[in-house]
Amino acid sequence: MNTQLFQKDFISTQDWSVDDLWTMLELALRLKGDFAAGIPHDQILRAKTLYLLFFEESTRTRNSFETGITQLGGHGIFLTPKATQIGHGENAKDTGMVLSSYGNAIAVRDCRTDIGQKYLYEMASHAQVPIYSMQDDVDHPCQAMADLMTLVELFGRNLRGRKFVISWTYAPKYVRPLSVPQSLVMLMPRFGMDVTLAYPEGYHLMPGIMDIARQNADIAGVKLEETHDMDAAFEGADFLYPKSWGPIMVSEDEPVVEAMAAKNTGWRVTQERMNLAQKHAVYMHCMPIDRGHEADGDVIDGPQSVIYKQAENRLHVQKALMALTMGGRW
Ligand code: CP
Repeated sequence: MNTQLFQKDFISTQDWSVDDLWTMLELALRLKGDFAAGIPHDQILRAKTLYLLFFEESTRTRNSFETGITQLGGHGIFLTPKATQIGHGENAKDTGMVLSSYGNAIAVRDCRTDIGQKYLYEMASHAQVPIYSMQDDVDHPCQAMADLMTLVELFGRNLRGRKFVISWTYAPKYVRPLSVPQSLVMLMPRFGMDVTLAYPEGYHLMPGIMDIARQNADIAGVKLEETHDMDAAFEGADFLYPKSWGPIMVSEDEPVVEAMAAKNTGWRVTQERMNLAQKHAVYMHCMPIDRGHEADGDVIDGPQSVIYKQAENRLHVQKALMALTMGGRW
């Protein structure tokens, strides 16, 4: 367990060792237990302030961070470009320098392709407080950690040899970022899982992501596979994480995106497809889900679905993150 995490940024899980990440998970499990038992922990970050800067919309991320900082005794302030001078062009350095002179951490969601994560690292290079990614164009580290926590709770700490499948699914509505599949393909091999990534032609990840995932898999001694066959991916899986993402490496233009998606409407989760996996397999999704397109309702609401546990665990991993990086030792 590494307890030297005070003031550490959390922009990508890649920036944290496996030992650091276990520290976060262990504390998240403890805080979840305390919360369930009604044991208050509102002295941990008493009177500390977290700024939450959103370039895009959110249900889970905003509310779990705001609720989390309140439960730890601090205060969250919701910001958008329009509500600040960012909308008039104020840059990451100036925003980060000023906010970090008032408060104790800055969390940012910025999913603009080729901009988002760079914005966060730029802010982090100037700010005097920890910077957290609440999702960017490359990574969604808090989501991936909540997903990992869910698996640890359900299947135990030893996940070695388990098959974790990340699969693209059809959705007509909007172009979702690549950050969730990318965060999963990088993180899960580090915790001993064999990872399979399935997607139709044109839905590949950003350059370099699979190289990082491959390196992580080699270090951990686990398998990493890519396929364009959804059924083959599902076969024998322990954990299924099917979700939609945009063909961002090809195009973000609506007519192109729609035409590409329309060719792949069969990439949908049905109970029949779930039955290709192990009997104990779980259905995972970060939410929001495009119901009826990405997956059938009987899967989403069925006994194998753990989607609400994943969403719930956002609160606990983020509380652990904030306690470790904003609180420190007394
Ligand atoms: N999973 C997730 O990040 O959800 P929100 O977009 O609602 O925050």
